[in-house]
Amino acid sequence: MREILIAPSILSADFAAMGAAVEELERAGADWVHCDVMDGVFVPNISFGIPMIRDIRKHTKLCLDVHLMIVEPEKYVEQFAKVGADMITFHPEVSKDAKGTIEKIHAMGKKAGIVVNPEIPVERVFDLIPLVDMVLLMSVHPGFGGQSFITDVLDKIVTTKKFIDDNNLDIDLEIDGGINPETAKLSLERGVNVLVAGNTVFKAPDKAEMIQTLKKANA
Ligand code: DX5
Ligand code: ZN
Repeated sequence: MREILIAPSILSADFAAMGAAVEELERAGADWVHCDVMDGVFVPNISFGIPMIRDIRKHTKLCLDVHLMIVEPEKYVEQFAKVGADMITFHPEVSKDAKGTIEKIHAMGKKAGIVVNPEIPVERVFDLIPLVDMVLLMSVHPGFGGQSFITDVLDKIVTTKKFIDDNNLDIDLEIDGGINPETAKLSLERGVNVLVAGNTVFKAPDKAEMIQTLKKANA
């Protein structure tokens, strides 16, 4: 059993006070900081890029879990690694060379992950899973925070977890989108160990308490 980790998404933070927001997450007991990079091409929204990762790096020692929702991620992964990303995940369907992208991330001494959108069968990336440190399953269509969890992904968690176990892989399985205490429980009991949560953490009156609630959702 891998440790359960909570990765609040800073997409729900005040972008003009990001340093303080990240420090607050660290004090509140977050394990990772999930950073949603959007290019307005792969997804219909623009968020932030390399300078933001560079600057939040100065405010926390936590793992920066950088989720690239950008086309041609291979062009940028080295820059994200250089400014302090620890885990870099990308969508293989928009990479010209997914294996090469994973290799580039590893060559920079960073962890690499692949992301699977709700409409993509996980079987399509089975060849890549043995090469990565994490699989991220999207439980919403990427682009915006605050959407509802797509329950179809629950079966995909089971399939992915089985593939990981059958192949004796020691990797993280993360879920992203619409996570609250109820969907956290459903996801954890099927084998996810990293929970991304944007709105649920940022809208909570007590972030520390919410992080603990999510962590123990399946206890
Ligand atoms: C969606 C992003 C998510 C998002 C999660 O495109 O990848 O990380 O910020 O936000 P919530 O938890 O509010 O659904
Ligand atoms: Zn994300």
